[in-house]
Amino acid sequence: MNAPAMVGQRRGRRAWDRCQALAAVTAVPGRVDRFYLTPQHRQATMLVAGWMRESGLRIWVDEAGNLHGTTGERGSHRPRLVLGSHLDTVPDAGRFDGVAGVMAAIEVAGELAGSMPFDLEVVGFGDEEGTRFGHALLGSRALAGTWEDAWWSLEDADGVSLERAFLEFGLDPERIGAASYANRDLVGYLEVHIEQGPTLDRAHVPLGVVSSIASARRFQVEVLGESRHSGGTPFDERHDALLGAAEAVVAVERLSLERQVIGTVGRLEVAPGAVNVIPGTATFTVDMRARHDHERDDTIDALTGVLEEVSERRGLRYRLQEIHAAPAVFCSERLLDAAREGVDAVQTQDVPTLFSPAGHDGMAVAAVTDVAMIFMRNPDGISHHPAEYVSPDDLGLGIAALTTAVRALA
Ligand code: GLV
Ligand code: MN
Ligand code: MN
Repeated sequence: MNAPAMVGQRRGRRAWDRCQALAAVTAVPGRVDRFYLTPQHRQATMLVAGWMRESGLRIWVDEAGNLHGTTGERGSHRPRLVLGSHLDTVPDAGRFDGVAGVMAAIEVAGELAGSMPFDLEVVGFGDEEGTRFGHALLGSRALAGTWEDAWWSLEDADGVSLERAFLEFGLDPERIGAASYANRDLVGYLEVHIEQGPTLDRAHVPLGVVSSIASARRFQVEVLGESRHSGGTPFDERHDALLGAAEAVVAVERLSLERQVIGTVGRLEVAPGAVNVIPGTATFTVDMRARHDHERDDTIDALTGVLEEVSERRGLRYRLQEIHAAPAVFCSERLLDAAREGVDAVQTQDVPTLFSPAGHDGMAVAAVTDVAMIFMRNPDGISHHPAEYVSPDDLGLGIAALTTAVRALA
């Protein structure tokens, strides 16, 4: 093992231990549930801020609740390289998605402080997953200056609006524009993340670089029929919303396979939800991802065609509400070369270049600066699940690679 890799291993163990400690910050004991603008978000912010301070970083929380730690000064006009990832999770999450990247960034910024011609700024984004308000990338969209006023009325499962959640967290919605880095002198954005798929694991390679991040759209679909007696209603008089939804759900998989895109229905609810009542309403989500925007959009058009046909045939109605849209993002050659140099310095195998079907903060940050990512091996590729894992050694290699990548940009 070469010298940067050895230093990386020590730092990897510390970063890994911190990921474990953060997993204890959860809304539901025994699992990991950490959502935007909740008490757990505040607690995680305080914990991570302490680690940033230990590494000599100056910290603040921005107008969207993102945690920043810099080797420079908050208002500095020096150019800055942003490193980071997110601190929020999906429900019943793993321990490494997002946080491993923030912990890695803290290690790198602490080590390189004062030795770079630019400031290093670590950001722990408050919302990437979109778990609480349904709209993903809220933290990084605020930083990118692409916040939309329509989002203030988004509500969580308890009917709390995003605007009220801001106020309760101690943030002023009127000041959201101040979180924007649109006019800052940015060198770029580099993120280390677990792969969330099996490519590196299957190839027995610890690290790879990311060439592009999937384009994504998410929808809430409501299928409306008629709830009636399950015993007394003849089949030819039924308007069963669930059967209509079920056809559409199966079509999501069929269309995805035919078009080589990635469509998922992750939630489906039926009302009134009684054993002896024909479903009157079925509501489900669609998460559609593709390498290119047009593939994603064409598949959504085809799915709309299926909904039209099924609704006509079964005497149903449907409503399609878009809740998230993000274009495909292609990583910059300049940052990608630096990331590749970093990975090449710490592993003997060739450096794989991967497409990321998973979404990342870099998708939003790309609106204001060049982005690139380093992926770490994720055993079995399992993520968004409690069994999600990265080894301390691979995390150490990720840290060592990021350190070299940052140096390469100097
Ligand atoms: C985030 O992890 C996403 O890809 O949905
Ligand atoms: Mn995730
Ligand atoms: Mn993530």
